[in-house]
Amino acid sequence: MNQQVTNQQLANNGSTLNDSFPVTVTVTGAAGQIGYSLLFRLATGEVFGQRKVNLRLLETEEGAKVAKGVAMELADCAFPLLGEVTISTDPAEGFKGANAAFLVGAKPRQKGEERSDLLQANGKIFAPQGKAIGEVAADDIRVLVVGNPANTNAAIVAAHAQGVAPKQITALTRLDHNRALAQVAEKLDVAVTDLTNMTVWGNHSATQFPDVTELKVKGEPAEDKLDDQWVNDEFIPRVAKRGAEIIEVRGRSSAASAASAACDHMRTWINGTAENDWVSVALPSDGSYGVPEGLVSSFPCRSVDGQWEIVQGLELSDDQRDRINNSVAELQEELDAVKSAGLV
Ligand code: NAD
Ligand code: LMR
Repeated sequence: MNQQVTNQQLANNGSTLNDSFPVTVTVTGAAGQIGYSLLFRLATGEVFGQRKVNLRLLETEEGAKVAKGVAMELADCAFPLLGEVTISTDPAEGFKGANAAFLVGAKPRQKGEERSDLLQANGKIFAPQGKAIGEVAADDIRVLVVGNPANTNAAIVAAHAQGVAPKQITALTRLDHNRALAQVAEKLDVAVTDLTNMTVWGNHSATQFPDVTELKVKGEPAEDKLDDQWVNDEFIPRVAKRGAEIIEVRGRSSAASAASAACDHMRTWINGTAENDWVSVALPSDGSYGVPEGLVSSFPCRSVDGQWEIVQGLELSDDQRDRINNSVAELQEELDAVKSAGLV
């Protein structure tokens, strides 16, 4: 009865109620702002389908006390699909048997900071977590790093998670993707569901490249409907700096929208992308589009049979290449910095 579900079974049976296959999901930073939104959505079944969800909350000593209260609230919701909820401060316990992990636990930036300013404080969190994932999680675990700087933290995880294939370790750029969809939908006065083939390339940072070249509106190219000046002077900087804008206006970094994007990312990974569409995913590069192998960069991706595949064969203009290269150069700098610090 307590047999663990494999990720292939999840992809095949994502919506079949089957109590004999609970899914075990680890959420780090469970006591934080994002955790407070994410955990309740995971418990409803909206990501893993109609099966029991066991939640492992991994926190610091201080955070574990708050996580206990969050676990009490989860119980009070009487979610039919919620299984066991455990709290721990030891990655070897927190990732045990995990089929999926949301690595959220990390410091958020404050007004005026860049996400890369967090590298020193946050980078060291991810080496021991990566090691534990390699040692105790399910072999085909799906990992999503949310804690910033998410791409390079994911590179640290990938370097330490022995035996876990690089494409099982991803970082979140679905929030940027969703932001880009929302901006265009508003501009063209269409529904977000009318839009397909949006791409965010590069780093989850101000250098990211939200790219509308392949974007379609109801199946028709969007480029004819969007003027270059709006795209270059308003859309790209708006999306790339949206995180800072939220901090400025809200006083704290995005939380519910980040949790929502994390759910979207994992749900698409399990259930697959819609036909003729793709989503943006940061994952270790295999050299596609000239991005050096190993850098965790955002690409247009499809999920096929429960595995991410980078969309191949898109022809890039010089402008697209320059923008991608600019963001990739920043990723390389971040990776060099964590290498010098001995984190990878
Ligand atoms: P928060 O400060 O509210 O919560 C962070 C939690 O992480 C705290 O409870 C803290 O105790 C915990 N934590 C710290 N170190 C830990 C460790 N080693 N193990 C387990 N838990 C640990 O922060 P938040 O608003 O929830 O944001 C979390 C992270 O997500 C930040 O780095 C933020 O910048 C990032 N973020 C990323 C995106 C994205 O799109 N990639 C979007 C929003 C926020
Ligand atoms: C975001 O994009 O909202 C998050 O990465 C938080 C931040 O620091 O901007």
